[in-house]
Amino acid sequence: MWLCLAALVGLYYLVRWYRERQVVSQLLDKFVFITGCDSGFGSLLARQLDRRGLRVLAACLTEEGAEQLRRQTSDRVETVTLDVTKTESIAAAAQWVQERVGDRGLWGLVNNAGISMPTTPNEWLTKQDFVDVLNVNLLGMIEVTLSLLPAVRKARGRVVNVASFVGRLSLFGGGYCISKYGVEAFSDSLRRELSPFGVKVAIIEPGVFKTNMADPKRFMQSLRAAWERAGPEVRAIYGEDFLAAYMKLGQPFKSPFRQDLPLVTDCMEHALTACHPCTRYSPGWDAKLFYIPMSYMPTFLVDAIIHWFSPRPAQAL
Ligand SMILES: NC(=O)c1ccc[n+]([C@@H]2O[C@H](COP(=O)([O-])OP(=O)(O)OC[C@H]3O[C@@H](n4cnc5c(N)ncnc54)[C@H](OP(=O)(O)O)[C@@H]3O)[C@@H](O)[C@H]2O)c1
Repeated sequence: MWLCLAALVGLYYLVRWYRERQVVSQLLDKFVFITGCDSGFGSLLARQLDRRGLRVLAACLTEEGAEQLRRQTSDRVETVTLDVTKTESIAAAAQWVQERVGDRGLWGLVNNAGISMPTTPNEWLTKQDFVDVLNVNLLGMIEVTLSLLPAVRKARGRVVNVASFVGRLSLFGGGYCISKYGVEAFSDSLRRELSPFGVKVAIIEPGVFKTNMADPKRFMQSLRAAWERAGPEVRAIYGEDFLAAYMKLGQPFKSPFRQDLPLVTDCMEHALTACHPCTRYSPGWDAKLFYIPMSYMPTFLVDAIIHWFSPRPAQAL
């Protein structure tokens, strides 16, 4: 009986492995539009897909970022500046994409642009702090997607949305986790709506990786700024020791952040080039072994674990 079970499990993994290795044809003719290509995963993915021969349309927030990327890639990579918080900028980029892809349509849209800070206790922040993050990570992604959907549908292509493990497990305050929960929800509804048209939607949920976004220095600066802005009452409730302990929480970012960025971009590439892409990818040992499993645990257990690791405010009961 056990042997039979082992054979069935083995067969399942063999079929899965075989399915996942099948690659779509005519990759050299396919256009992929990526947001947030100035640095991090976006920049790496643009270079990786360029080496693979795809036609990369890379959107960068700044002209300097675009220039740097052009220096690192072949002539086939084209760049455009795009601020995903600005409707005019999105409309201009969508027009730019349409002029390039024409009747072929857009094979891939990778919604990668994002910001994470401030990430502090919610009480230290203002509404505007939340709005700023949601505008980039969620509303920007939605507007870019809506603008390019006709072109993606035409190609029966792919939408790849970059979420995070914190889209499954709300670990800290601020707009970041909220925005990534939103990305998960938007992507799930989009996948179901677009499947009748042959369009596939994949969600990337990376663990923690060392990019500009996870820079401990930037984390500390933004934490300090939010602390200074919080009123004297809030500062008294939390206390300087809490702030110091919270800042230390940013320190471990240094070591586990050693994960290789290609773990993430390989998943994005698979989502764009495999005949049978996965619905969700969770690159990184921390996401796979810790955060995603934790997201399935009962809430009281998750609360207890997070409570155990969190610093205590000065006036906590
Ligand atoms: N690193 C991680 O541990 C991690 C984990 C899970 C998920 N993610 C997600 O991965 C994605 C890429 O982040 P990353 O880690 O590669 O960090 P990153 O290097 O900071 O990349 C983010 C990119 O988005 C751009 N961007 C920021 N605001 C923008 C705006 N308003 N419009 C257009 N582009 C904008 C940034 O441009 P500038 O460089 O010019 O600011 C940058 O190119 C994000 O969605 C992030 O949430 C990252």
